Amino acid sequence: MFYLTTAIDYTNGAPHIGHAYEKVLADVIARYQRLRGEEVYFLTGVDQHGQKVQQTAEKDGVNPATYVKRVTKGFVNAWDKLGLEYDGWAETTNPEHQSCVQGVLQKLYDEGQIYKKRYTGHYSIRQEQFLTDKERNEDGEFGEEWGEVEERDEENYYFKLSEHVPWLKNLVDSQEDFVIPHFRKADVINAIERSIDTDLCISRPKERLRWGIELPFDSDFVTFVWFDALINYISFAGYNKAADSSLPDFEKLWPASIHIIGKDILVPSHSIYWMCMLHAIGFNDQQIPSLLCHGWWNIKKKSDQGNAGSEKMSKSLGNVVDPIELVDTFGQDAVRYYLVRDIHTGRDSDYDMDRLVMLFNTELANNLGNLCNRALNMTKRYCGGVTMASEYDDEFSQQLRASLDTVLEKYRHHMDRYDISFALEAIIEFISGTNVYAEQQKPWEIAKDEGKAAQLHTVLSHMVEAVAQASVLLKPIIPTACERIQSQLNAPHLSELTLSELHWGLLPVGQELAKPKPVFPRIQLED
Ligand code: ME8
Ligand code: MG
Repeated sequence: MFYLTTAIDYTNGAPHIGHAYEKVLADVIARYQRLRGEEVYFLTGVDQHGQKVQQTAEKDGVNPATYVKRVTKGFVNAWDKLGLEYDGWAETTNPEHQSCVQGVLQKLYDEGQIYKKRYTGHYSIRQEQFLTDKERNEDGEFGEEWGEVEERDEENYYFKLSEHVPWLKNLVDSQEDFVIPHFRKADVINAIERSIDTDLCISRPKERLRWGIELPFDSDFVTFVWFDALINYISFAGYNKAADSSLPDFEKLWPASIHIIGKDILVPSHSIYWMCMLHAIGFNDQQIPSLLCHGWWNIKKKSDQGNAGSEKMSKSLGNVVDPIELVDTFGQDAVRYYLVRDIHTGRDSDYDMDRLVMLFNTELANNLGNLCNRALNMTKRYCGGVTMASEYDDEFSQQLRASLDTVLEKYRHHMDRYDISFALEAIIEFISGTNVYAEQQKPWEIAKDEGKAAQLHTVLSHMVEAVAQASVLLKPIIPTACERIQSQLNAPHLSELTLSELHWGLLPVGQELAKPKPVFPRIQLED
């Protein structure tokens, strides 16, 4: 079973393309794993508790429950528009999740893993956490990243995080794929050093925060939002579920193969808190999931504004890109394609609408779209719309067939490493190669020579075959476009194939093609 999760998005505002990227990346990986023949469970959802949500709801003058319902709808709608196919949907206000969180808290409390302590010190409202001297910068101040910092004197409950840190240190050293890409490991090791003697505050007094899960052993407190949110990865997988629950069977799903998260939530939440929580609950080294840590989409500044470069997407800068608007403007395929094409997994990239349009027009419309049009139209014109036997052969046809093995190998190699953009480059190369083959064979010319019928039939069959192969390989990335291609090929069996079944000759001789229609109309930008 390939069980993958994404971060659950805060419902303190509408989704932006950063959120959309992570979910599309996960969807592409889930669909690719299905193509490999794996059984897949894809969980995503929303993080509905915490101070930020309570504050935004207050500003809007509604109660938090009403507020999160409304915002959650916006996420569901966006993911629907992007064609995401997830199996489980995590909402942290869900009663089954809440009772799972309370079960974990009670167990840790009973085992002496949680204790109460008075603490006087600084608290960052933005990061919703207490600060210690380690968080001060060289000038002895709490830097801008902490936002507003206030003094607090209160009693709270603490989880004995520090007791698990030596175990975590070993684990990170010994597990190669603890975090992917591997260059992120250094951040984790640094963060471990900083956590060695600090426990984690896991409660908030209700006078300050009401919008959370009540502690099962003290009704004056709610649970710290991260402690609540992280547990979604097991609660929605059926951990400790009730007998009549419709959640999945935990034993079938766990351990998750990967948690997909952004670089900002690698430390301390996922690599430190979550791993130590799992260990405290009783999971062993083999039951610890890998973290796939992606980079960020930033916003490209226009060079005519002087200061070219890129900046963080943020509500206060007013440069947030709305994925729903993008899909409405450019279509689902163009947006999905761009979001995984123009970034290398693990690295950052700058969002740039001109590149979205350029990549769609050159790689999809002009390259694959053109190949589809030519292959199907000429098959219709010269062969009555039916694929013919390949009785002719030459070096170029052989090369084209051999290039399929190359693309399959590269595709599998890169997709297995979650490097979607490199896998796409390999497919594009294969499609370009097929277009070069068409240019070189010139079926529109050999059609004039009756003596060359065998060659004509071979060339067109090869072109149609290449389209069929591309439609299978691209389907995890642009599923609806590939469905359209496959329905024009009249070949529903293509969607049943697994990756290892791909070989030259997916389309039988005598395959009757449907009416050709452009699959990727070029995007025209108005000035
Ligand atoms: O962190 N580019 O929620 P969140 C790429 N609720 N990814 C981005 C991004 C950008 N510009 N901005 C955000 C939270 N993300 C918590 C998670 S998990 C138990 C709880 C990614 O809405 C970010 O890295 O701030 C994270 O993985 C996800 O979007 C949700 O961010
Ligand atoms: Mg965030």
